[in-house]
Amino acid sequence: MNYGNSSVEFDVKDQLIGFQEEWFMQDMTFILFGATGDLAQRKLFPALYNLYLDGKLPDTISIIGLGRNYCSNEDFQSKVERALQAYSRRAVQPSGLQDFLFKFRYCAFDATVKESYHHLHEIIENREQELGIPQNRLFYLSVGPSLVDVITSNLNSSGICQTKGWKRLIVEKPFGSDLETARQLNKNLSKTFSEDEIYRIDHYLGKPMVQNLETLVLANPALKSLLDHNQISNVQITASETVGVETRADYYDKAGAIRDMVQNHLLQLVMMTAIYLPEKITSNEIRVKKMEIVDSLRPVLKENAYKHVVRGQYASGEVQGTPLVGYKEEPGVDVSSKTDTYFAARLYIDNPSWSGIPFYIRTGKRMDQKSTRIVIEFKNKMTDSDVLQGITPNLLIFEISPNESISLRVNMKDPSSNRFEPVWINFSTNSESLPEAYELLLFDAMVGNSTFFSHWKEVELSWEWIQPLLEAYQENLLPLHSYPAGSTGPEEANQLFQSNPFKWW
Ligand code: BG6
Repeated sequence: MNYGNSSVEFDVKDQLIGFQEEWFMQDMTFILFGATGDLAQRKLFPALYNLYLDGKLPDTISIIGLGRNYCSNEDFQSKVERALQAYSRRAVQPSGLQDFLFKFRYCAFDATVKESYHHLHEIIENREQELGIPQNRLFYLSVGPSLVDVITSNLNSSGICQTKGWKRLIVEKPFGSDLETARQLNKNLSKTFSEDEIYRIDHYLGKPMVQNLETLVLANPALKSLLDHNQISNVQITASETVGVETRADYYDKAGAIRDMVQNHLLQLVMMTAIYLPEKITSNEIRVKKMEIVDSLRPVLKENAYKHVVRGQYASGEVQGTPLVGYKEEPGVDVSSKTDTYFAARLYIDNPSWSGIPFYIRTGKRMDQKSTRIVIEFKNKMTDSDVLQGITPNLLIFEISPNESISLRVNMKDPSSNRFEPVWINFSTNSESLPEAYELLLFDAMVGNSTFFSHWKEVELSWEWIQPLLEAYQENLLPLHSYPAGSTGPEEANQLFQSNPFKWW
């Protein structure tokens, strides 16, 4: 059998493995493009504030928010405060609040106009001098994909990137809309930033339970035998949402579930589930392992895509008694849209550890519940009489969100009926005390730790796996099934189990 197709070139691996890991917090300037946008209010300001409460921001930090419209520094600071009141996971505390808000400055900015960059450069330098901090500059692009190129090339030509300290770039998804656009985007970014300066955010990699997967076996030797691949029958990864397209039709109708969730979040979850690390290794070695996994994904040819993939779109339905319109009736969606709001697939990792163990992945909007989880189903040499006695397969479940827990399902005999009943051994954490994904990721980017950011090679290999499916979509080789809003998705997704006696958990 051919394990992997060797497109993870050795120079990438060597570069990463030879790289010295040294992470420390230094004073810096944090420059936020898109500071008046939704992500900034809901996630980034609260994340910075919670890092502040934990004493995890640099001793001195200058934060410069950029947005199109004029706003004074004071008004911007009040806006930040309102965002904290609305979205911070911990209550805003009067003590220290003014000190925190005073770190923020605002600059009205048009990304397409050169003068804006000169003005920004001045503000950055003036604050650096005023605060006596080095020229360490962290740029965060929370902007539409069409602005990424223009911003990075102007950062370069304006001299903002010629710093005497370090520079880093955090970039939000989507990273391209197919293999070619992703490659082009990466090529353009690399004119200004080197790979180790680029932090591609996938917020699923910031979820504490996902980060835990890395050290799970190392920290829990008992799980090592439990996760013996010979005992695993299949792995299922679900990311279901109850929300619909919300106000994002403009973006979503072009992206669909495959680009919005699968190419990035779901494939990252596949990588994190499959890395299985019984020994301590460096963060760069982890990234190499992830690349090897995505490189070992068995390719799906577009002609065969219909055997491996089921896609769907929600029709009208109801959730908890509330009637909901179908996707095509949502504001801003094309009435003849063929965009997928549901995606499920069966995939195989052709490496010695996972050979022959199917991974089933699925994601959908307007499903019956919000849940992101990984379920490992164990083999059960069950006979008909076991089934009659109530014996069911053992399951190990990692619930990632909205709650976090690890559960093991075992069979216990009920003495009164003499039948077996499934019981759960459950460990759950208090999600209110857990840091949010953006807190963990911002902190990592500030100290220069890129373990939980997507390396370009991971992104490229993910697109390589996805590309034939996009072509199958385009050439109408994959039917688009309908499912009622508030359901578990299209019935056809069960066909992915073929003749196996599995079901979606
Ligand atoms: C985003 C997608 O990346 O992830 C959204 O663009 C989706 O469409 C969201 O709703 C889901 O994230 P979470 O953390 O709520 O599972």
